[in-house]
Amino acid sequence: MDDRVLEFTASLPFDRRLALCDLKGSTAHAEMLAAQGIISAAEAAAIIGGLKDIIGEIESGTFPEDLAFEDIHMNIEKRLIENIGPVGGKLHTGRSRNDQVALDMHLYLREELVLIEQLLKELQVTIIELAREYEDLIIPGYTHLQRAQPLLLSHHLLAYFWMFGRDRERIKGVAKGTDLMPLGAGALAGTGFPIDRELVAEKLGFGSLYENSIDAVSDRDYLIDFLAFASILIMHLSRFCEELILWSSSEFGFIELDDAYTTGSSMMPQKKNPDVAELVRGKTGRVYGALLAMLTMMKGLPLAYNKDMQEDKEGLFDVIDHLKVILPLFAGMLQTMTVKRERLSKAVDDDYLCATDIADYLASKGLAFRDAHHIVGEMIAYAARNNKRLRELSKEERMSFHPTLAERIDELFDPARVVEARSSRGGTAPAAVKVQIEKAIETLNP
Ligand code: ARG
Repeated sequence: MDDRVLEFTASLPFDRRLALCDLKGSTAHAEMLAAQGIISAAEAAAIIGGLKDIIGEIESGTFPEDLAFEDIHMNIEKRLIENIGPVGGKLHTGRSRNDQVALDMHLYLREELVLIEQLLKELQVTIIELAREYEDLIIPGYTHLQRAQPLLLSHHLLAYFWMFGRDRERIKGVAKGTDLMPLGAGALAGTGFPIDRELVAEKLGFGSLYENSIDAVSDRDYLIDFLAFASILIMHLSRFCEELILWSSSEFGFIELDDAYTTGSSMMPQKKNPDVAELVRGKTGRVYGALLAMLTMMKGLPLAYNKDMQEDKEGLFDVIDHLKVILPLFAGMLQTMTVKRERLSKAVDDDYLCATDIADYLASKGLAFRDAHHIVGEMIAYAARNNKRLRELSKEERMSFHPTLAERIDELFDPARVVEARSSRGGTAPAAVKVQIEKAIETLNP
């Protein structure tokens, strides 16, 4: 083989992380071969002992790698034969690299899913802690990035809790698609050896196995599902980042990110840049990219295995590595941020935030809500023209919009009251948010 072809086609530089999964799968395979009398007990013992020694070599960093043997699977097999002699060559009986690599990827993703789910849950716990800490704190809520209605900060933060909760549900779906044992498919058609696939599945802790050998070696749906999950998760994180970036700007000034999570500018001494939040937002592109790359790689492939499928690894590994860094970093960034209460109380001291409540008040006096909405709109336009806050309008001015407004409506302008009034299930009233927090905690410990 041309050296450049060797280098181009080898996957060793990135699939070496599958080594321990490969050894685990091979051990189960060897045990099954012996149980079925396909190899002798002594041969199996030699092979399994040899595989154990290789685990030792990998852990101590003495495992020799050779790019001429393309991938980690062939490197391990070569080393096994080197260490225990020709009997090592019996390990590959009834197996192909196609079902072997599929098995390794299933084992690998299964482990990573557990870790990622745990990190996601920890982030949710952080959000609950913050929601409790800021149970009473009111912020302006936005639609179209225009101030809309006051909200509890805890309510706002909890919105992300539920997004991450759905992400955790999605992980369960990914885990289900990963819980299928492919070994025994051979290259694509199965094998004539009297293998026992159920036994291998049981030894490796799989719930079920592929019922079709062609599907077993060419399915990458579970990886695509994972990348779809990761794409949605990072979309959620990115939205959160965008808010942290906005909120930490001088224009908003609602929060300050801790120095540990920001950087300075080399030129402008006053700058404190929200780099972590920006970079998480920026990483979204590469995660979507990995999903799109995998979907595109698969779309034209005839059954069964094609070398294209080796491209299922780097993007996936990159996404996994990133999530394991991003999730704890993000939680740390939230835990250490300072919320600027004074600035927030100024921001919510805004009569317009209570406009809906004035309309609601008129509606409660018998007006159709649409008419009430119109009247308050006129009143706001009038106040804005005359440079007045709504609460500064005189009784006569108010009455010029509607006679019902003769009564004092001062209490309508209190953001605490406005928030308290939103007591519908899932609303922002403190009592409703308390219920929400209880429900949220239930989802953590089902
Ligand atoms: N390195 C390959 C991969 O990662 C292993 C499977 C190779 N199979 C084959 N028939 N060439 O996809």
